[in-house]
Amino acid sequence: MPKTYKDLPGDGGSDIIGQVTAQVERLQARMRTIRAQVAVVSGKGGVGKSAITVNLATAVALEGAAAGILDADLNGPCIAKMTGVRGQRLAITAEGVHPVQGPAGLRIMSMDLLLPHDDTPVIWQAPTQAESYVWRSSMEATALREFLSDTVWGALDILFLDLPPGTDRIATLAGILPGLTGMLVVTIPAEVSHLVVRKSLALARDLKVPVLGLIENMAGYYCQACQTLGELFRAGQGEALAGDFGIPFLGQIPFDPRLARSGDSGIPFVAQHGETPVGQAFRVIARGLMAHLMNEDEGGTERGTR
Ligand SMILES: Nc1ncnc2c1ncn2[C@@H]1O[C@H](COP(=O)(O)OP(=O)(O)O)[C@@H](O)[C@H]1O
Ligand SMILES: [Mg+2]
Repeated sequence: MPKTYKDLPGDGGSDIIGQVTAQVERLQARMRTIRAQVAVVSGKGGVGKSAITVNLATAVALEGAAAGILDADLNGPCIAKMTGVRGQRLAITAEGVHPVQGPAGLRIMSMDLLLPHDDTPVIWQAPTQAESYVWRSSMEATALREFLSDTVWGALDILFLDLPPGTDRIATLAGILPGLTGMLVVTIPAEVSHLVVRKSLALARDLKVPVLGLIENMAGYYCQACQTLGELFRAGQGEALAGDFGIPFLGQIPFDPRLARSGDSGIPFVAQHGETPVGQAFRVIARGLMAHLMNEDEGGTERGTR
């Protein structure tokens, strides 16, 4: 007969089960003050998840919502840089860790605010590559759970979670946050992106994680000199992809070189160029998202106060 945890005479006094239970309860209590938790995913890297997270969060904050971002990319955290809060110190009190304040009052929490700025990657030591992978996955999951349990967000309308690339992250997140409101899935007009995004959508369907919709980024090109939108890639397949999976298509965001520059400057694009076609594209998606989330939330829950 294999033994279970209950058969063990003791765990050396550290009460692991008690600790885990307490952490789960803490996480649930933290999430009760957040009306909607929205994860931004794609499966693929470099498609603009972080840029979209920052700009949608800023856009909803400019509309008057209380918004926060949790940068859950432990090895490539870039939200702090993109929002200009890099170098700010996190305040730690008996209540927990307080996020820093970013543009438009965004509350931001990132591994980047905890690590020394000396280019050292987070390395999981393990004797073999395979074990290293297992360790990395479980360490990441642990870190994410701790972030969610220990951050004092206060009352938020929307908390955005910026996830690292990798389809498996969706499963991790579903395990940690069963109450996740939903995922925003990002794709670009390229077959290589669609292939991976299809896997993410299929996994979300299997895990019954709600999908709020698909965003097609880098769809077309905004030419500043000619003030027009041009075709750059064969945009438009995003809508068909959303149709295949029966999920809402939320819109297209064209390529605008100023968007890449704003990421480096730390001032979100929508805060500076909200009136441009690309700025408007973000604002339209943000308003649609807010309308959807806030309607769904009506009927009174104990979440949120605003
Ligand atoms: N629509 C866009 N127009 C111009 N640059 C963009 C656009 N979307 C993303 N970028 C830039 O592309 C790069 C990769 O985006 P990022 O958000 O870091 O991708 P991911 O988080 O998916 O890995 C960043 O430098 C970002 O500023
Ligand atoms: Mg990213």
